[in-house]
Amino acid sequence: MKLFIDSGNIKDIEAAAALGIIDGVTTNPSLLAKEPGDYRQNLKRICQIVKGPVSGEVTATDTSGMLQQGHDIASIDEHMVVKVPLTRDGIKACKALSGEGIRVNVTLCFSAAQALLAAKAGATFISPFVGRLDDVGTNGMDLIREIVEIYGNYDFSTEILVASCRHPIHVIEAARLGADIATCPPAVVDQMFNHPLTNIGLEKFLKDWEKAQAVKA
Ligand code: E4P
Repeated sequence: MKLFIDSGNIKDIEAAAALGIIDGVTTNPSLLAKEPGDYRQNLKRICQIVKGPVSGEVTATDTSGMLQQGHDIASIDEHMVVKVPLTRDGIKACKALSGEGIRVNVTLCFSAAQALLAAKAGATFISPFVGRLDDVGTNGMDLIREIVEIYGNYDFSTEILVASCRHPIHVIEAARLGADIATCPPAVVDQMFNHPLTNIGLEKFLKDWEKAQAVKA
């Protein structure tokens, strides 16, 4: 299973990449809007850091605008993936860009029917948003289960990129269901490391070791 960082922050991405467990990055207009500097240069820097798929999203809402922006985003770096929303125009743009060999991540997916459309349009990645579904009282992981089943039935090559992960349980459930990727904010990656018994255990090992050294000295 691949783990992506959901962030546009260079420092956070550098820190996550240094751990050696990050396979790619997802950004969106809200995340990039928070960062200083030119967004194209920021995306280029992110590609240099992770050397894996980096999603940059179009802001146009019509197919021709999406294609124009999509070509520009793809030209930033070979690692760039063009993110388009799951609308009629977005699906048309996905089909056209994928046909040109440009990788597309179809985002804002909230139903299995939408995921099927993205696969039909040749998407490289589909991004179902589990946290935002949970927010409105619908179990986000049920959607992942449905997509895994549907894509498996037909051997679609579109990768399931579980997005809007809010805590480690989303990541664990995504892995148990066989999703290809989970994209997590840096805070969720931090939470994945933490366990009080690890800290307590390490502290005891080190104390016991020090005590034994003092006796021998
Ligand atoms: C994924 O590509 C999106 O950027 C992201 O996961 C959205 O997460 P949010 O619902 O926490 O904003």
